[in-house]
Amino acid sequence: MKNLIARSALLASAIALSACQNMPSNQLVNGVAAQPVLKSKINSVGDKPMPMGQMYLRPVEGGMQVFGKLMGLPPGKTVAVHIHETGSCSNMGKAAGGHFNPANKPHGHPNSQDSHAGDMPNVTADANGVAMLNFVNTDITADMSGANSVYRRAIIVHNGVDDYVSQPSGNAGDRIACGVIEKM
Ligand code: CU
Ligand code: ZN
Repeated sequence: MKNLIARSALLASAIALSACQNMPSNQLVNGVAAQPVLKSKINSVGDKPMPMGQMYLRPVEGGMQVFGKLMGLPPGKTVAVHIHETGSCSNMGKAAGGHFNPANKPHGHPNSQDSHAGDMPNVTADANGVAMLNFVNTDITADMSGANSVYRRAIIVHNGVDDYVSQPSGNAGDRIACGVIEKM
């Protein structure tokens, strides 16, 4: 089970705490790391990649918080964001392969048990083309290896909406942006 909303108050307080105390990155708050341990610089796909934002991954109780900002989206547009299995953005993002799916599940709503580990909620751009993601994914880890590790996998942004139903990837359309998940 992934939990999109319920932990947000807890997360907000943890973030505020870490921000005002300027903690070293290995210090724990309520048993979890205060700072992100992985990041992904998101660029448009194609011959001339342009920066389109940054995502961070931070261990929290029960999962990984995936959060960050996307820019340069069509204003008001809702788009799909997933973790894909391969850490490559070449060939218009197609080299990233399918959704990260270590448990061999069907594609589905990210809050459902029956979903890929890489499934995450759609995001909607504001009037300036900026969209925020803040989601606790309980099916992934920030370990450097292991079945559920997302290190050296890829975050993909699509040009369409994930319907959370269609197989194998929610009918989310072409890949418009991509970032490999790296160490901070
Ligand atoms: Cu995708
Ligand atoms: Zn999926």
